[in-house]
Amino acid sequence: MRTDWFTSPDDASSALRESGYLADSATATTAFLAGALEKPLLLEGPAGVGKTELAKAVARARGAELVRLQCYEGLDEARALYEWNYKKQLLRIQAAGGSQDWSSTHDDIFTDEFLLTRPLLSAIRRDAPTVLLIDEVDKTDVEVEGLLLEVLSDFQVTIPELGTIAATRRPYVVLTSNASRELSEALKRRCLYLHLDHPDLERERAIVVGQVPEIDEAVARQVVEVVAQLRELDLKKTPSIAESIDWARTLVALEIDDLDEEVAVATLGVVLKHVSDQKKAAHELISRRRK
Ligand SMILES: Nc1ncnc2c1ncn2[C@@H]1O[C@H](COP(=O)(O)OP(=O)(O)OP(=O)(O)O)[C@@H](O)[C@H]1O
Ligand SMILES: [Mg+2]
Repeated sequence: MRTDWFTSPDDASSALRESGYLADSATATTAFLAGALEKPLLLEGPAGVGKTELAKAVARARGAELVRLQCYEGLDEARALYEWNYKKQLLRIQAAGGSQDWSSTHDDIFTDEFLLTRPLLSAIRRDAPTVLLIDEVDKTDVEVEGLLLEVLSDFQVTIPELGTIAATRRPYVVLTSNASRELSEALKRRCLYLHLDHPDLERERAIVVGQVPEIDEAVARQVVEVVAQLRELDLKKTPSIAESIDWARTLVALEIDDLDEEVAVATLGVVLKHVSDQKKAAHELISRRRK
């Protein structure tokens, strides 16, 4: 069974826009292709540029359920794929009280009832349209990549006691990475790849206005312009779209209708979270005013 995710790049673009995500043409095209080719989509890029949000928006756009596997160091098969519910199995054995021989007990306790499905298996088993988000895949250990390879190549999982479970309907898979380490070539080969970066001024302004409709258009423009200037500085952590949105919300809350240097310096904590970055930015903003 196939899900028709998007009929064309244009369809992807407008469906995503309706669910609140403004995609540029490369993003819309890749989002379309990931659905049409049923290939996992690997999104790489700096923090806060809309990687996770794209997966959520695809799910919203098509009324699909989002199944999320949050990756972290030490994530293992039991958390990613499935594990047996030992407690319940034990109770079952105790309840049988030795009245059953081992092979029938064994047949009994290695059934679906005693299986705890984790995100990867859940996504494969679902009949309804599903977006599987494998978030921050660069945070896992390399062994988990091997596991992902298996699952994402054939969309099936083999459980020794139960047999092979194949997807009846392939999920739309999105993997995100901050590129804190290189992913294996084998994993990349199975995916479509898209590098997301900070948007241009116009798109970022549109994103900000979309998320913070109360903001004055002119102030929204000031916000993205100052943020773009801050990104030019040599900072530890450059502000992302998420910070532009937070800044816009801040200005609305403070009822400020002009983001001049003074206001910018006073509210820098919303966009820059390192004291050295704040000092550098304040210095730059103030020296610009003197010019
Ligand atoms: N193209 C976009 N359209 C609408 N909103 C966007 C877009 N890109 C980013 N955003 C907004 O920016 C916020 C941050 O995006 P998101 O959480 O997806 O970042 P990320 O790339 O996953 O970052 P991280 O690497 O830190 O997880 C989102 O909550 C969303 O509101
Ligand atoms: Mg994210």
